[in-house]
Amino acid sequence: MAKLKVGVIGVGGIARTHMPGWAASEHAEVVAGSDVSEDALTKWGAQYGITHLETDSAALINDPDIDIIDVCTPNNYHAPLSIAAMRAGKHVLCEKPLAPTPKEIHDMIAARDESGKLLMTAQHFRFRGSSKAMKAEIDGGALGDVYHARSWLLRRIAAPVRPGFIMKKHSSGGPCIDVGVHVLDLTLWFMGNPKPVAVSGVARAEIAHQPGAFSKWGGRIPPEFDVEDFAAAFVRFDNGATLVLEVSWLLHHDTMGEDMQMWLYGTKGGCHWPKCEIYQSNYATQQLYNRALKLTDDALEAHAQECVEFAQAIVDGAPSPVPAEQSLQVMTILDGIYRSQVAGGEVKVG
Ligand SMILES: NC(=O)c1ccc[n+]([C@@H]2O[C@H](COP(=O)([O-])OP(=O)(O)OC[C@H]3O[C@@H](n4cnc5c(N)ncnc54)[C@H](O)[C@@H]3O)[C@@H](O)[C@H]2O)c1
Repeated sequence: MAKLKVGVIGVGGIARTHMPGWAASEHAEVVAGSDVSEDALTKWGAQYGITHLETDSAALINDPDIDIIDVCTPNNYHAPLSIAAMRAGKHVLCEKPLAPTPKEIHDMIAARDESGKLLMTAQHFRFRGSSKAMKAEIDGGALGDVYHARSWLLRRIAAPVRPGFIMKKHSSGGPCIDVGVHVLDLTLWFMGNPKPVAVSGVARAEIAHQPGAFSKWGGRIPPEFDVEDFAAAFVRFDNGATLVLEVSWLLHHDTMGEDMQMWLYGTKGGCHWPKCEIYQSNYATQQLYNRALKLTDDALEAHAQECVEFAQAIVDGAPSPVPAEQSLQVMTILDGIYRSQVAGGEVKVG
């Protein structure tokens, strides 16, 4: 069977992490790329031996030989490009966040349903073997009913100092949207995607505008930085469960890298990711059990694995491995954090 032809739009950093996945897929191959930067496009084309290069993304979207559009641009262009691609009859793999507002995700879902094409959010953490193993344990009942979770992704000096991340006109937000989307997506997936109903949150920039503030990714924080550098939230779900979330790019926290953790607490057990441990207690015998999940090395890095599984789902006629409806839940909470910051108190969501 002929391979599905992939066109990549936005050939920067993350597009490069997708390339090994498309190369590993037995069902898909990258044939074209588009970027508003001719320089970026030329370098990417030379690196991967791709000669069909267009500075106008419409040329890829309307190319009848292309089956899949891989959207890897800054956040604010995800929805218009994905919607245009699905209307042109393409399947879409779109980087996270699927779109920076719930309204845009609703529009993407409508375009998907009208087109009958597959739409997947590139939430690569779901494609790690450790995430799949933890999800299987939780779905198998190891935790019982999950009633609380704590999730964070905290960095001390690691803001991506590029316009696509630090300027609202390109990104719509800072770490809340950029990395909050990762921890939240994974946590909600582990929890079984309960429906969020209320959010009390803050999103503020306390470090970025201090004189000399800097990032190990890009140096001094420039004056055009107009997003938050920290966000935190308390979320309530319709099943009574609750979640505490904390995210940062710049914070006086004890890490030079990234501290990403998830703790889930249920009626029968608790767990930690990425340690991948389960904690249970037999109160009748007063015995405590800690168990580490048995993991094997992943064959592919997670960003690559997501591309392989997306192409496989298309060929199999299977549902999207990361459904847009679940990304809508994630963005409903993140949007609630921004609304709560403005309101100064808890807001209803959903
Ligand atoms: N899943 C992950 O782990 C992960 C990691 C990093 C970034 N991302 C996401 O990927 C997206 C891109 O991030 P990046 O790190 O690759 O950024 P980047 O700045 O390295 O690359 C973005 C590219 O898009 C191009 N571009 C900008 N606007 C465009 C448009 N309208 N049409 C076509 N091209 C356009 C830029 O010229 C640039 O080459 C963001 O949405 C980000 O949230 C995901």
